[in-house]
Amino acid sequence: MKLNTLRPRRLRLSAPLRAMVRENHVCLNDLIYPIFVVPGTNVKEEIPSMPGCYHLSVDNAVRLAEDIYALGLRAIEVFGLPAYKDEIGSSAWDPQSPVQCAIRAIKKALPDMVIVGDVCLCQYTDHGHCGQIKDHYVDNDATLKLLNKVAVSQAEAGADIVAPSDMMDGHIASIRQALDEEGFINTIIMSYAAKYASGFYGPFRDAADSAPHFGDRRQYQMDPANGREAMKEIDLDLEEGADIIMVKPALSYLDIVYQARQRCQRPIATYNVSGEYAMVKAAARNGWIDEKRIVMEELTSMKRAGADIIITYHAVDVAKWLKNDE
Ligand code: PBG
Ligand code: ZN
Repeated sequence: MKLNTLRPRRLRLSAPLRAMVRENHVCLNDLIYPIFVVPGTNVKEEIPSMPGCYHLSVDNAVRLAEDIYALGLRAIEVFGLPAYKDEIGSSAWDPQSPVQCAIRAIKKALPDMVIVGDVCLCQYTDHGHCGQIKDHYVDNDATLKLLNKVAVSQAEAGADIVAPSDMMDGHIASIRQALDEEGFINTIIMSYAAKYASGFYGPFRDAADSAPHFGDRRQYQMDPANGREAMKEIDLDLEEGADIIMVKPALSYLDIVYQARQRCQRPIATYNVSGEYAMVKAAARNGWIDEKRIVMEELTSMKRAGADIIITYHAVDVAKWLKNDE
């Protein structure tokens, strides 16, 4: 009988051994925390479908940014609910809109906080689509011109990174050119390169009041059944000059993160979206799961798949947990 000398369990004997051979780690440097900014002052209202996340006026957004900075987080993504909506989403590039005001105020209070602006139109159009409508169809090239204005207005406000989530063709080249023409050569573009038409965005659309009023987003966001097509989208965005590419959502698309990692030398982000967050929160509230354990396992899986950066509503909880573990 052959002796069993191959014993992988040896390396699992104690906590320090397991830590020594651990391949992937979640650390605060990797996390981006999304926030929702609204008009007014002194507003802080919890979003029902996203417990622990709030609609914040600019003053409170700055306060929150300071709090999470103190916890060790260094990156924030700003979404906004504007004061007005119209056919083309012009409040998306209004320098007085909540997003632009929040970017300016947070940059002033915390110069080394990395600030990401979400570049899209769905929160700002009266029809809820991510672009300009012509004959019930989102007109790609007309939309590019509007997205350019949004990106430039966020860069002017002080965003370090602009993140186009619209899924229009050619958007990265278009935004890069617009930024460069205005002198923003160092503004980073993080492209939502592979963004799927996903049911996991449900709670976000309530939070951001951005659900389309007719049809859906399947004519521009990707079909969840497609993997190879994601590589095409990623290749195009890289060619067009994306500095960071993103896969969204995260958990059901870790195969895409993994494949992206194999073929791309640039940083990869993944977006742990609202529906993923809400499911964890709901189960935790019912006492059905161990929230901390599940969240850390999920985020570690994203790292293992190859993500460098994770955008997650869990970031603040993670920062608190890691602090307590110290
Ligand atoms: C809008 C946008 C969406 C998200 C970020 N930007 C949703 C959508 O396409 O409707 C989703 C974020 C989340 O679910 O957490 N372009
Ligand atoms: Zn959109």
